[in-house]
Amino acid sequence: MRRKLIAGNWKMNGSLEANRLLLSGIKSDLGHPGCDVAVCVPAPYLAQCQTELAGTAIGWGAQDVSAHEAGAFTGEVSASMLRDFGCKYAIVGHSERRAYHGETDAFVARKAARAVDGGMIAIVCVGETLAEREQGETATVVARQIDAVLTALTNEQLARVVVAYEPVWAIGTGKTATPQMAQEVHAMLRARIGAKEAGIAERMAILYGGSMKPDNAAELLAMPDIDGGLIGGASLKASDFLGIVRAAS
Ligand code: PGA
Repeated sequence: MRRKLIAGNWKMNGSLEANRLLLSGIKSDLGHPGCDVAVCVPAPYLAQCQTELAGTAIGWGAQDVSAHEAGAFTGEVSASMLRDFGCKYAIVGHSERRAYHGETDAFVARKAARAVDGGMIAIVCVGETLAEREQGETATVVARQIDAVLTALTNEQLARVVVAYEPVWAIGTGKTATPQMAQEVHAMLRARIGAKEAGIAERMAILYGGSMKPDNAAELLAMPDIDGGLIGGASLKASDFLGIVRAAS
């Protein structure tokens, strides 16, 4: 049985005070979750997470990582810097980075490799736009995105990868993929990964992301190939985030 992971993606939200309240709300009611729990926060707040979350059941991570190791890359944050602040996870290839920062499939794969080599678990996001879905291109697009990672990474590196299927049209829109729609893509992803190495596919967590909320989480998480969630909006409210953690536990 794969252990489920519920990871918050705060995006560019938060402040020292708001984070303190949110994290203390999550900590106080978390109990002993039956799944892995993490928050992926803006880089300046990693130190705060390290202080507030050390010794708890909540891991923390970054929302991006540089594809480079070190050097003249103004504004970039390296994997080793993230590890200095105890990051366990790094999201790579979120659709917002693909769309607004021109990140290509190959570049996302390099970032995934960098995160893994730096000692973190890479959460690799894939997903189609509304236009792509309407043109019947979902499988083609998602296969192309995952193949870039499967080609660039070794089996050892892939063992430290989590995939997040996030249909772009469901992100922040309140429109969720139905459990059947999501399951279909998750199964396709697992088959694709399995064509490279069956054991890795069997063990790899494939999360769903896109307007997952406490009231729709249970039915999504009940699908055989949905191993958790990458949560945007609902991760900013302790009670909503905890509701999803409970649905996964
Ligand atoms: P959402 O975001 O839950 O607000 O739709 C998910 C994500 O972008 O990771």
